[in-house]
Amino acid sequence: MSEFKKKPVPGAPTKALTGNKRPMKGSVQLAPVPAVLVSCADGERADLVTVGWTGIVCTHPPMTYISLRPERYSYDIIKKTGEFVINMLPSTLVKELDLCGMKSGRDIDKFETCGFTPIPATQVAAPLLKEAPLCLECKVKHVIPLGSHDMFLAEILSVDADEALFNTEGRLCMEKAGLFAYAHGAYYPLGKPLGLFGFSTKKKKKRK
Ligand SMILES: Cc1cc2nc3c(=O)[nH]c(=O)nc-3n(C[C@H](O)[C@H](O)[C@H](O)COP(=O)(O)O)c2cc1C
Repeated sequence: MSEFKKKPVPGAPTKALTGNKRPMKGSVQLAPVPAVLVSCADGERADLVTVGWTGIVCTHPPMTYISLRPERYSYDIIKKTGEFVINMLPSTLVKELDLCGMKSGRDIDKFETCGFTPIPATQVAAPLLKEAPLCLECKVKHVIPLGSHDMFLAEILSVDADEALFNTEGRLCMEKAGLFAYAHGAYYPLGKPLGLFGFSTKKKKKRK
């Protein structure tokens, strides 16, 4: 296999890479990731902040995280209350999600600007968004300073899903939520399912 010799990328590892890969310096290139709208409130202030650095870290108990820069207006509210709600939005509201990631709650009321309707949650004081098909009510368990961002590790106390997402058997149909993902600075709608969990090992039914 020939040595990979292409335009050097500044800051990239100096060791030669073999094969078909171009080395770049370490960065946040995991994709796709979710882009969600996090709501928070402390009685006096309420805010919405767009978050890409989020995910699931444990099944039992159900745990998630959001990573926030301390300079965010929402940061102080979440640090103080130890609570937040992760609102997942449909593709039709991607512009509103982007706007909430461009403007600070210090300067505008994002609920009003975007026309979002806050509704009370069951486990936390932070509101749910009526317009979000799925909302996760979260209680912060640990705050971990990492560098540019602090990670809020939190337990998911409740999942609040729109009635419209359930089929007649009571199964939650995620495809009805019309969600989107974020990859390398762009938003993409979720396409059709490629397969179901475990489909690669499922035995085909014999024809009679
Ligand atoms: C797609 C997208 C993802 C973002 N992800 C994060 C994130 O994970 N953490 C963070 O601190 N800021 C993130 N931001 C930036 C904040 O949402 C933005 O600075 C926002 O204006 C902060 O609002 P606030 O001051 O009202 O808290 C993201 C912005 C966008 C558009």
